[in-house]
Amino acid sequence: MQTQATQTAAIEVDTVSKTFGTDKALNEVSIRIAPGEMVALIGPSGSGKSTLLRHVAGLLAGDRDAGSVRIFGHQVQKNGTISPDIRKIRAEVGFIFQQFNLVGRLPLLTNVMTGMLARVGTWRSLLGWFSREEKERAMQALDCVGLAEHATQRAGTLSGGQQQRAAIARAMEQRARIILADEPIASLDPESARLVIECLAALNRNQGLTVLVSLHQVQFALQYCVRTIAMKDGCVVFDGPSQELTPTALRNIYGVRKSGVDLDGTAPLHIGVRPEPALLGAAA
Ligand SMILES: Nc1ncnc2c1ncn2[C@@H]1O[C@H](COP(=O)(O)OP(=O)(O)O)[C@@H](O)[C@H]1O
Ligand SMILES: [Mg+2]
Repeated sequence: MQTQATQTAAIEVDTVSKTFGTDKALNEVSIRIAPGEMVALIGPSGSGKSTLLRHVAGLLAGDRDAGSVRIFGHQVQKNGTISPDIRKIRAEVGFIFQQFNLVGRLPLLTNVMTGMLARVGTWRSLLGWFSREEKERAMQALDCVGLAEHATQRAGTLSGGQQQRAAIARAMEQRARIILADEPIASLDPESARLVIECLAALNRNQGLTVLVSLHQVQFALQYCVRTIAMKDGCVVFDGPSQELTPTALRNIYGVRKSGVDLDGTAPLHIGVRPEPALLGAAA
């Protein structure tokens, strides 16, 4: 068995920078995430979280002078050039956005099955010509996130939290090995947010998926992720055990105003509290 030191990283970002005009959105960012980790990405608005996630997925190319991104050893980009193999590599990555990105007028099951777009011919997916086995897999994924009973319902008629869990089911259907989630719970009420993050945590725990999730609510990072990476002004300013994110560390990241409380200023931080067992199958 490979040791941690020699094991191929699930995600490896090496000195990536990204400049928009005169704004350095990423400043020589390097991170390494092992297979099976669930890592929180935190930092104030504008600190570079979304930009970093988009670079990892190969949706954005970094500055030309240096830097590379690898996923399971496969090059996503190097020196500002996206790999020609990106389509194949991206099939390994499920990207979850804040705004769900489902097709509202299509049934949930169809939305989940579009996760296969990366793996089957596009025309076949668009024609809705799915095999029984593919449908069964999609149903299983929906069942896993507690939405089997809504399979035939139009996605647009479901709540935000349900749509986000369906987006997670779509990533499962895609057979992604990595999930990149960009503020997936930012627009949800606390209970829906908890169900969504517990789905991600269960996928990580039960299926060994690697999860990198940016979170606006710091206490979710502390509760659900053993490790946190914090960004500020395009730089990684903390990378380590979430338990070490003390109020003082958070004050340095977010500034004085938001220290000691969550970012909405409503609740004290609960550092190091472990989550309840995942509520897979629970309805929103
Ligand atoms: N497409 C873009 N064009 C110009 N500037 C951008 C673009 N995307 C992000 N930025 C800038 O890069 C910085 C980091 O943004 P972002 O990654 O969205 O931060 P976060 O997700 O942490 O809020 C910000 O200053 C933002 O304005
Ligand atoms: Mg963002």
